Amino acid sequence: MNIVIVGNGRIGRAIAGGIRRARPSWPVRTLGRGDDPTAAREGDVVLLCIKPQQISAALEPLAATLKPGNVLISVAARTTLAELRALLPARVGVVRAMPNLPVSELVGMTAFACESDPKDLERAEEIFSLLGRTLRVEERLMDAATAMNGCGPAYAYVIVEAWIDAGIKLGFSYETSRTLVAQTLLGAAASVLASEEHPAALKTAVTTPAGCTIEGLMQLEDGRIRSTIVRAVIAAAEA
Ligand SMILES: NC(=O)c1ccc[n+]([C@@H]2O[C@H](COP(=O)([O-])OP(=O)(O)OC[C@H]3O[C@@H](n4cnc5c(N)ncnc54)[C@H](OP(=O)(O)O)[C@@H]3O)[C@@H](O)[C@H]2O)c1
Repeated sequence: MNIVIVGNGRIGRAIAGGIRRARPSWPVRTLGRGDDPTAAREGDVVLLCIKPQQISAALEPLAATLKPGNVLISVAARTTLAELRALLPARVGVVRAMPNLPVSELVGMTAFACESDPKDLERAEEIFSLLGRTLRVEERLMDAATAMNGCGPAYAYVIVEAWIDAGIKLGFSYETSRTLVAQTLLGAAASVLASEEHPAALKTAVTTPAGCTIEGLMQLEDGRIRSTIVRAVIAAAEA
């Protein structure tokens, strides 16, 4: 599959890097600002990795180069399928995707919405399933997906940063604390994905009666961690 990525920023580079790692045989070309946009004609699939306010200017020269059968996948937040479709020739497939930066490590999470040919969605899934997990959602839920998995790594990094500080306060070096925290979160995430159990049941299994875990959990509850997280994700979805 020939892939052209328009936009050489953070998510464009992460996707390009992930595809090159996962499928070295697939040609991936990245077009930055100032590159000839008509080079997009080389792509069976064109990935639009630019900000919403940059889209109409970017699609003007691109639209003329795209052929029927090409698929345009936009990762831009908020920009709807109808808005993208209005800027493109008929019979160019349009897919909305919301990935996250861990696609570069092949552990990304990408949500998709598409209202055209199901084959367009299958092409998008073929690419992004190389880079982690994928999920189809109704388009009305794409802003929610942006807040959940698009923004999600940032929430995790704040928790990781604070947890590393706790390790340093307890006497570990930064490097040791970082490994303890990151691997523990990776393990917790892996057990949630591997298990049919609700996270509450997994938590109970870690919590020895009258032990130290319950002391830590009580502090988290005093800090209103649950309502804080719920409100944070809703605020991002409504932004
Ligand atoms: N970062 C994430 O974690 C993430 C995750 C999921 C989705 N997204 C979405 O992806 C989009 C891009 O985010 P980002 O964080 O990658 O932003 P970014 O780092 O600012 O990257 C956008 C890049 O596109 C370039 N660009 C603008 N117009 C162009 C054009 N006509 N042709 C070629 N390149 C052009 C920009 O160049 P200039 O700097 O010169 O303008 C910039 O290098 C946003 O809509 C965001 O919502 C981001």
